[in-house]
Amino acid sequence: MVFAAKGVVHLRQYQKGTSFWGEDTTSKGNRDYFWDTFSKRRRKPSPLTPPCLERTHSPLCERPVTAGQTGCILVNKRENRPSSPQRIERPRGGITRKGMCSMGQEVKVVSVLVNTEMASSHEDRFHVVTPLKKSPILSNVTGTEVLLKLENIQPMGSFKIRGIGHYCQTLSKKGYTRFVCSSGGNAGLAAAYACNKLGLAATIVVPESTGQDIVQKLKGLGADVVVKGKVWDDADALAHQLAEAPGSVYVSPFNNPVIWEGNSTLIRELKDSLGLRKPSALVLAVGGGGLLAGLVSGMTDVGWLDVPIIAMETNGAHCLNAALQAGEIVTLPDITSIAKCLGAKTVCERAFQCARETDLISITVDDREVIEAIEKFLDDELMLVEPACGAALAAVYSGHIERLKLEGRLKNPHGPVVLIVCGGSAISLSQLLDFKSQFGLN
Ligand SMILES: Cc1ncc(COP(=O)(O)O)c(C=O)c1O
Repeated sequence: MVFAAKGVVHLRQYQKGTSFWGEDTTSKGNRDYFWDTFSKRRRKPSPLTPPCLERTHSPLCERPVTAGQTGCILVNKRENRPSSPQRIERPRGGITRKGMCSMGQEVKVVSVLVNTEMASSHEDRFHVVTPLKKSPILSNVTGTEVLLKLENIQPMGSFKIRGIGHYCQTLSKKGYTRFVCSSGGNAGLAAAYACNKLGLAATIVVPESTGQDIVQKLKGLGADVVVKGKVWDDADALAHQLAEAPGSVYVSPFNNPVIWEGNSTLIRELKDSLGLRKPSALVLAVGGGGLLAGLVSGMTDVGWLDVPIIAMETNGAHCLNAALQAGEIVTLPDITSIAKCLGAKTVCERAFQCARETDLISITVDDREVIEAIEKFLDDELMLVEPACGAALAAVYSGHIERLKLEGRLKNPHGPVVLIVCGGSAISLSQLLDFKSQFGLN
């Protein structure tokens, strides 16, 4: 039997030394059930199975698992003991009340999130825990409580350090000495910052659209900068080639499970701040989809999969919206929006899956609305953010939150709308003024 009645089964797998263990993250934040070794045949529990390794991590898996593999649940953490062979022979029904799987049940791993060595411990992680700020003005605009998750105050000014910092830390333990990252700007800054901290070399490949100020910041962090092509996809192709050199490793700005794992820390922080309150919606900007994939991973962990996700893109950098309309992943012919940091022509597969598995509302806005939103946010909150983030802000300033509320699309009506202020470095006051005159907004 395949445990798919509730949709996707996620296994988060951890490694310490040569041992692996895993937890079921499907069960709406309830981590009581764990999967033991994924052997095809059913067998007696391993004598290696310890009573409990850590509070939420229980039995050892003896080998890494991969998506698509099937296996069998042998241990139930609640009882802290291996399940009996009889129970393995006679599974107790399929899905339990809470949507979890029963001991002895055969399951299929649909996706695996690997968190090797738990690199981002509190002491050595590169990102900071950001404030969740209530915004009376934006709450007034939308007619609902709006909380701002201030990722713009992260080192290097965007959420990117969560995932990319975690990725660089994790991969540095494997002996790589040079990290090659393709980026529109913010991912490169995060990679350069992390490599600088780790004492490792960084090559950041950016497209021609990346501003000189960002190139200078990258160089200031000790990174080698290579400019290639018109859009991020061109830079990315070169980054893949450069990463083939001995000792080098490629860093995707958004498409890797370790990056999603790092990005998911944002949700755990939100959960800590909100306690028992659930958001009525989460608002974010989507580029290649790494933030979306990370948030959905975190939402799975904390039991927030019913929270609507408002996924904002700009027309001309709307690869997720185009994919959802087509019913399959598509590649945009070009990136024509000013939000260059959202400018992946193709959304990553995991983000596309996430969009289909959650209550995701995809919205696109025009560049002009983005610039209006950035300016209003500067006036309202005294913070200047780049167009990638302006796309998320336009959910408020272009009236989408208000409309969705009236349409009854915001769940948990007493919960706040959480807007992820993803930040970004591709902006200055003079650039904002240039954009304003470009769109006749003076
Ligand atoms: C400031 C900012 N916000 C949002 C995004 C979108 O993130 P993702 O590519 O993970 O979807 C990016 C991507 O670079 C970004 O720089």
